[in-house]
Amino acid sequence: MSTHEEKYKEFEKRKNAAELGGGIERIEKQHKIGKKTARERIDILLDPGTFTETDRMVIHRTRDFDMDKKKIPGDGIVTGYGKIDGRLVYVFAQDFTVFGGTLSRTNADKVVKLMDLALKMGAPVIGLNDSGGARIQEGVQSLGGYADIFYRNVISSGVIPQISAIMGPCAGGAVYSPALTDFIFMVRKTSYMFVTGPDVIKTVTHEEVTKNELGGAMTHNSKSGVAHFIADDDEQVLMMIRELIGFIPSNNMEDPPEKKCTDDIKREDEFLQKLVPVDPNKPYDMKELITTIADDKDFLEVMPLYAQNIITGFVRLNGKPVGIVANQPSVQAGVLDINASTKGARFVRFCDAFNIPLVTFEDVPGFLPGTTQEFGGIIRNGAKLIYAFSEATVPKVTLITRKAYGGAYCVMSSKHLGADVNYAYPMAEIAVMGPDGAVNVLFRNKLDAEKSDLVDEYKANFANPYKAAELGYLDEIIYPKQTRFKLIQALEMAANKVKSNPPKKHGNIPL
Ligand code: HXC
Repeated sequence: MSTHEEKYKEFEKRKNAAELGGGIERIEKQHKIGKKTARERIDILLDPGTFTETDRMVIHRTRDFDMDKKKIPGDGIVTGYGKIDGRLVYVFAQDFTVFGGTLSRTNADKVVKLMDLALKMGAPVIGLNDSGGARIQEGVQSLGGYADIFYRNVISSGVIPQISAIMGPCAGGAVYSPALTDFIFMVRKTSYMFVTGPDVIKTVTHEEVTKNELGGAMTHNSKSGVAHFIADDDEQVLMMIRELIGFIPSNNMEDPPEKKCTDDIKREDEFLQKLVPVDPNKPYDMKELITTIADDKDFLEVMPLYAQNIITGFVRLNGKPVGIVANQPSVQAGVLDINASTKGARFVRFCDAFNIPLVTFEDVPGFLPGTTQEFGGIIRNGAKLIYAFSEATVPKVTLITRKAYGGAYCVMSSKHLGADVNYAYPMAEIAVMGPDGAVNVLFRNKLDAEKSDLVDEYKANFANPYKAAELGYLDEIIYPKQTRFKLIQALEMAANKVKSNPPKKHGNIPL
């Protein structure tokens, strides 16, 4: 009979076996290229001392390729739960030092178990990805593992927030799990994502491209729109995830977390009075308005480098998280195009799924003309934004700061799409089209000199907010300096909004 001491010793030995993953040498290799290990990442991400590990002793069951001689407890992934600012989150971190962080059957089962728990308990799942993809030695078992995860990503979508950080390789079909989650973070220089890598591309299309150009953090943040956030290193990415979690509820049955507001809710900012130029052709930076009206001027921008003609992100107003969607007049005059529409629509749907009220700032000259846009399906893609705003049942407040022309007036959370409170500044111009365009259509045959008077007349009669206010399409015209308080008042009024759409299996958003 063994003693207590012997039992505990054996337990200790087995418990510690997982600690070093693939060994010191491989850990050092990671450190040398600026990467942290899976365990170090989890330590940085979570509140100190809150991590509880699950399935630490799990090992793979493969015999092919002599794999039965190579078994490392944990099998290449660290899973468990802990807290961020005292709130429960589930986390998995692929351990690149163990078989390249690749997905085995048992490794996938650990993730599946975690995702099932998270869905049952109603808390976010955060995946830290760093993997060579499917574990080749396991063949279809690994593929099955991926598909099991994809299925859970989909079923959990809109129920619990799912966040992915790409902190190393993420290639092949493996990219589709992060792609199904709500937000993707990437680390500059050390992360990349692609469905097929540079070698395959060279063989098939003869294009030469580096890994970084093809699927690095900048590519996915600025070009493809696959990723939502970019960070300089592992530490920064983990801090950004903590920040994001602070804005979102743990599940779709909860309200987003409130923070005590110490910023004066009635704060008036004189500088806003002149921020929006009276000349409709002069740009200004909408982000100045957003940061000025936010609690403590704190704005977490989502997709800051992609489709910069629209701005999306989170602020707090009177301590409560709010999703911001805003046209950006300083980029392409804030025009709506395919990328801006899909960026906006996806963000609106996230906020609606998770009970985050929406504030829309509008200054939009319309949809971008051109064959590129039409052939690319601006009709189908612009429709996504209408769909998203219309189906959103969270409180919706809209402020027209200047231009609201044509279809874009309708799209940008207008009263007609169910906005609860619609404001405008006195500088607002709400009309079917801009004055020059309108006069050219209506008075095609007039001389230029005559047209100029007609443009002035049109400006006076139509390029203002008063027609819309007379019709009740606007609830109030406000001074810019009052914006913060007016938004807070509107959101407070709409806080207990009860609104649901007709029961259905699901709608059919024009994908
Ligand atoms: C098994 C793998 C592996 C894999 C890497 N390793 N990828 N083992 N299956 N897919 C192992 C390596 O043998 C090595 O083991 C260790 O992980 C580290 O890999 P290195 O190559 O030394 O590291 P590095 O030079 O940094 O290169 C990383 C890499 C490269 C770019 C990820 O390993 C690579 O290209 N791997 C193959 C990627 C791939 O094609 N995966 C399949 C994608 S398709 P040792 O013991 O030497 O340390 C896919 C399908 C999913 O994933 C489908 C879902 C629907």
